[in-house]
Amino acid sequence: VEFVEVCNRGEVPEGGVRTVKVAGRAVALCNVGGEILAVDDVCPHAGGSLGRGRLEGETLVCPLHRAQFNVRTGEALGGPTTEALATYPVQVSGDLVRVALSA
Ligand code: FES
Repeated sequence: VEFVEVCNRGEVPEGGVRTVKVAGRAVALCNVGGEILAVDDVCPHAGGSLGRGRLEGETLVCPLHRAQFNVRTGEALGGPTTEALATYPVQVSGDLVRVALSA
């Protein structure tokens, strides 16, 4: 498994979400209660950027048509799609956040 450095921990504040690039792929990093989780940035419904969405607990809401996903499992919870998001392993060491595209 190859972990790639994507940002500093402080760039994803608690309750926040942001888009980073991992080997050319857009990934949404979510900070749930201090834990950083990574899912696909591209909404499977119509390509909305989930990194611009809103995080409510473990639920990420797409900014375009409000599809909802669990960011721990990737499962679609509601809205216009039932397709799950891919989830990615995250490592935090010191201030650095690293993501791997495969488990
Ligand atoms: S693009 Fe995400 S809900 Fe439509």
